[in-house]
Amino acid sequence: MPEPVPGPRPVTPVGIAAALLERVEAGLADVAGVPDDVRADLARARAIAGGLEPYLEASTSPESPALAALTERTRAEDWSGRSGGVRLEQEMLSGHVEGALLQLLVRTSRARRVLEVGMFTGYSALAMAEALPEGGEVVACELDAAVAALAAECFAASPAGGRIRVEVGPALDTLRRLADAGEVFDLVFVDADKTGYAAYVDLLLDTGLLAEDGLLALDNTLLQGEPWAGGPGGPDGEEQASANGRAVADLNAALAADPRVQQVLVPLRDGVTLARRV
Ligand SMILES: C[S@@+](CC[C@H](N)C(=O)[O-])C[C@H]1O[C@@H](n2cnc3c(N)ncnc32)[C@H](O)[C@@H]1O
Repeated sequence: MPEPVPGPRPVTPVGIAAALLERVEAGLADVAGVPDDVRADLARARAIAGGLEPYLEASTSPESPALAALTERTRAEDWSGRSGGVRLEQEMLSGHVEGALLQLLVRTSRARRVLEVGMFTGYSALAMAEALPEGGEVVACELDAAVAALAAECFAASPAGGRIRVEVGPALDTLRRLADAGEVFDLVFVDADKTGYAAYVDLLLDTGLLAEDGLLALDNTLLQGEPWAGGPGGPDGEEQASANGRAVADLNAALAADPRVQQVLVPLRDGVTLARRV
């Protein structure tokens, strides 16, 4: 019998908090002397945190069959077997609820040209492509050629797949090239290497790549809670944030004081910052 493919591990602040509360609850199960009201509070905190994301899923319009198939394909892939380049894992996929948010942003902003930085297997690119009007285009940047090829196979199976143009290579190079070519985008979704975000944002705002009044969406700006709670423990047991956590904390602080944008950090999934170019 083949090994069952493990499901995604928690990668959002609330998912991580729920898993920790579950662990504490299990650890206290056989401990004598814990007051009943403490056990009841713990159980309620675990239920609130653990139930939130399934509730959001259930309260969101269903995804298309092509997006569901892409998710299945991503889950079934053996990511541990890949070598070289960026470490890829199924948890990178943005998924149903965030995809639905991006689709609403595309539709309500009436975007026709969308840029994605960090495509992975293509969930968010395809979600946004489905929301575009006739003649609209998503340009999706991805560093890893193999994962880009997998995404292209999924796009080919979707009616909206033809609206996606994939650019393989380091995103900063691609962005410079697109800017030099005079390309302009109404909406840009950044979801690649977290330490690169500040440079992407500067390039998008310093060139004409992001349209006047264009919308910028930055993923993982809560970075699993690290910007305010630190990391899960360093070598000396210190609560150290990772390089990604520090980069996101710096970016959030810089953006909050940046007169080029008006922004809000939406605590959906691992955090999505929405910023309008002003
Ligand atoms: C979190 S995943 C993107 C998830 C995707 N947006 C989705 O919704 O499923 C990040 C992706 O960015 C890519 N990436 C990392 N560094 C990059 C770079 N410098 N240029 C382009 N892509 C990069 C990784 O290979 C990975 O596929």
